[in-house]
Amino acid sequence: MDFTGFKEQIKQNFCLDLDSYKEKQLKRRIDNLMEREKKKDYVEYMGLLLASKETYEKFLDTLTINVTEFFRDKEAFTFFERNILPILIKNKYLKIWSAACANGAEPYSVAILLKELTPGCVYQIEATDIDANVLKMAMTGKYNVECLRNVSPHRLARFFYQDGEHYVIKEQVKQKVFFKKHDLLRDFFGQNYNLIICRNVVIYFTPQAQSLQQLTEKYKTK
Ligand SMILES: C[S@@+](CC[C@H](N)C(=O)[O-])C[C@H]1O[C@@H](n2cnc3c(N)ncnc32)[C@H](O)[C@@H]1O
Repeated sequence: MDFTGFKEQIKQNFCLDLDSYKEKQLKRRIDNLMEREKKKDYVEYMGLLLASKETYEKFLDTLTINVTEFFRDKEAFTFFERNILPILIKNKYLKIWSAACANGAEPYSVAILLKELTPGCVYQIEATDIDANVLKMAMTGKYNVECLRNVSPHRLARFFYQDGEHYVIKEQVKQKVFFKKHDLLRDFFGQNYNLIICRNVVIYFTPQAQSLQQLTEKYKTK
């Protein structure tokens, strides 16, 4: 089986469309994984993926690159806080989508800003990702200090509590974010959002999968 055949098998068995990810880096990561699992070709590796849920989860984790942190790209968040949120909060109700939210640092950062700016504003943040493992972490809301390096001591004290070496997001923030599994390349999109945040994910897609036309197709309801 060649790489094209492997991708086809992945699509059939796991409903995961690897054709929409940039091939060079994808293949490099899969080949590294295969080597680590001591599998000599795609047939052997596919056998392992089908036999072991844990291996498939590791496979998905490596492919999807879950790197994130609170207030990632500080300048972007400062711009957002100063220039976009003040306009948005003129609405009585805000519906927000954090697409490809990884471990939840992004939607929780937005929830923190909204807590600070709009004690009276009603809002809801939907946060989605293709990777069920990171979503589990997001729902737990427990983070190491590296993930929190852009969080000020004031925010840390107000919105987190310490649990050993980790910090856990407080319930007042947690309850504003709803997590759900969602594949940007397959699943239909929700509607009527006041804000959609989708960062550091489409860079992994092929130019065709990135195209506006393809993405807007997903807005059509079922
Ligand atoms: C680098 S993280 C970005 C997290 C956050 N948006 C940020 O900017 O910090 C990329 C995330 O995209 C998710 N992802 C990759 N392919 C996806 C897809 N087809 N649909 C939804 N999420 C996807 C990964 O699981 C990963 O959590």
